[in-house]
Amino acid sequence: MLVFQSIEETRTAVGKYQRDGQRVGLVPTMGALHEGHFSLVRAAKTNCDVAAVTIFVNPTQFGPNEDFRNYPRTLEQDLEGCAREGVDLVFTPTAEEVFTGRARTTVHVAALTAGLCGPHRPGHFDGVATIVAKLFHILPADAAFFGEKDYQQLAVIRRMVEDLNFPIEIVPCPTVREPDGLAMSSRNRYLTHDERARAPAIAAALFAAQSQLEAGGLDVKTVVSDIVRSLRNARIELIEYVEIVGADDLRPLTQVDRPARICVAARLGNTRLIDNVPVDAPRSDG
Ligand code: PAF
Repeated sequence: MLVFQSIEETRTAVGKYQRDGQRVGLVPTMGALHEGHFSLVRAAKTNCDVAAVTIFVNPTQFGPNEDFRNYPRTLEQDLEGCAREGVDLVFTPTAEEVFTGRARTTVHVAALTAGLCGPHRPGHFDGVATIVAKLFHILPADAAFFGEKDYQQLAVIRRMVEDLNFPIEIVPCPTVREPDGLAMSSRNRYLTHDERARAPAIAAALFAAQSQLEAGGLDVKTVVSDIVRSLRNARIELIEYVEIVGADDLRPLTQVDRPARICVAARLGNTRLIDNVPVDAPRSDG
């Protein structure tokens, strides 16, 4: 497995793979790798000849009061995991390698960032879009793999790729869950024992809502109130949003008449958790 900190070495290696006719798959990460990330690596390996992973805790996507300083940094274990999964190349730069201090350019994806996490994390998606654009230039892969757990991020990156004509295929991959339903996240390790026991209530409420909506029995407003009630019953009081949005444009829906996504963000103690599930429009009998 090649491990590079430098942009130049990474570019040269990727160029060589591609000149040799190999399709390169990229999994961008911030490290603290778990099964969710490794499922993306496996998808890259199935879909491509070469699997590349980037590990970089991007400061520009964290707000001033967020967890940048405490974000788990587990590079040694991450590299072991990558080697075990058969990753071919890891790019793990320093902040100085990526940001020279002279940068004046930001990528902003409008509309899709106006709702859901956007207002709760000002500047977050600009930070994500900008670093992902940079990574796509540094490591110009043929395909990149993103988890549906960060559904808004996935939508933003797809839009950016289309709008800015990046020659890269974006491959969405299903959320990986713990046996009790909790969506895997590097931040789950912040949860105390008691919070960890309550956290699966989010997924349980989402799946119950998915069944209710797909059965066609209940309207969006009732389903949203049911989710809020279930979260409160699990003592998840700090709910940032519970929304049902169009799967493509992320606009709030008042009825599910097209493919949609039920999205939740809530805080358990100091940990911010997000999750979402798909919902199809209910089948009509006619
Ligand atoms: O999903 C993440 O881990 C990050 O937001 C990403 C896409 C690697 C950009 O820093």
